[in-house]
Amino acid sequence: MPLPETIAHEGAASPRWLSIVGIGEDGVEGLGAGARGLIGAAEIVFGGKRHLGLAAPLIRGAARPWPSPFDGAADEVLSHRGRQVCVLASGDPFLYGVGATLARRIDPREMIVVPAPSAFSLAAARLGWSLPHTALLSVHGRNLDLIRPHLQPGARLLVLTSDGDGPAALAQLLTSLGFGASRLTLLEALGGQRERVGATTAAGFDLGWCRLDLVLLYDQCVADVFLAAYETATDSVLPDPQLWDLWAVGRSHDIVETWVPNYRDLGRVDLTAPELRRRHNAWTRRLLEHR
Ligand SMILES: C[S@@+](CC[C@H](N)C(=O)[O-])C[C@H]1O[C@@H](n2cnc3c(N)ncnc32)[C@H](O)[C@@H]1O
Repeated sequence: MPLPETIAHEGAASPRWLSIVGIGEDGVEGLGAGARGLIGAAEIVFGGKRHLGLAAPLIRGAARPWPSPFDGAADEVLSHRGRQVCVLASGDPFLYGVGATLARRIDPREMIVVPAPSAFSLAAARLGWSLPHTALLSVHGRNLDLIRPHLQPGARLLVLTSDGDGPAALAQLLTSLGFGASRLTLLEALGGQRERVGATTAAGFDLGWCRLDLVLLYDQCVADVFLAAYETATDSVLPDPQLWDLWAVGRSHDIVETWVPNYRDLGRVDLTAPELRRRHNAWTRRLLEHR
């Protein structure tokens, strides 16, 4: 796919000065020859720090991380109109991506766009879901309430979140709206070496925190008895409880010592900061060993 040559061939008369290249978690290995050529030929390459890092082996021009806040990004790209500029995007740049943002200001005839598989396609491939029968939503930098109109029994939603806190926020919303039994699959870093997929229920989010509390106060046995009692009482089985256990230890890793006063108020003066850290570390290790 000789895309860079096409640009060169059209020469000065070519209106195409901007390439938008979708890059996946597999980095340069997942890029075709055309995409590689566009990155290598660019005088300026814009992208998030992670994308610039992934594409670093190909970049010969100046690497420019996106400005913060992102609002000024299109202006910055436009200020280089006429030079060979490449913008790196995740997956398909026109699916909740920077492509749509830039296309509001730049004529598509000035662009060459090379999409990679989007997170939606990768997720659908892992789950075996038909994309036309699935709501494709993004709450990345948007209000979580956007998902509300799509919540109904049997509905399938693929939701992009901004960061690691997103799934828990979704779980809380689902639980508060009576959809706590919904199957929730967390799909991270799809297509890369760090890919992780785990399924549980939305309600399990609360259980992860409760179990951590019980492990810190007592031990894993008590946490397991609690989980069994919950399952009996709700006549349900929590798939993959470890997923929420790991989530809870991940979120509390930096702050567990600050819980000393909470436990002291319960009369547990033995749970000093070092002791909480020791118990937290031991629980984290056990969870990771059994993953
Ligand atoms: C601004 S959206 C861009 C989506 C992108 N245009 C696409 O087609 O996948 C960024 C969000 O997409 C999701 N995402 C992108 N790539 C992903 C991947 N490989 N695995 C899991 N989620 C991904 C994450 O939720 C991330 O915060």
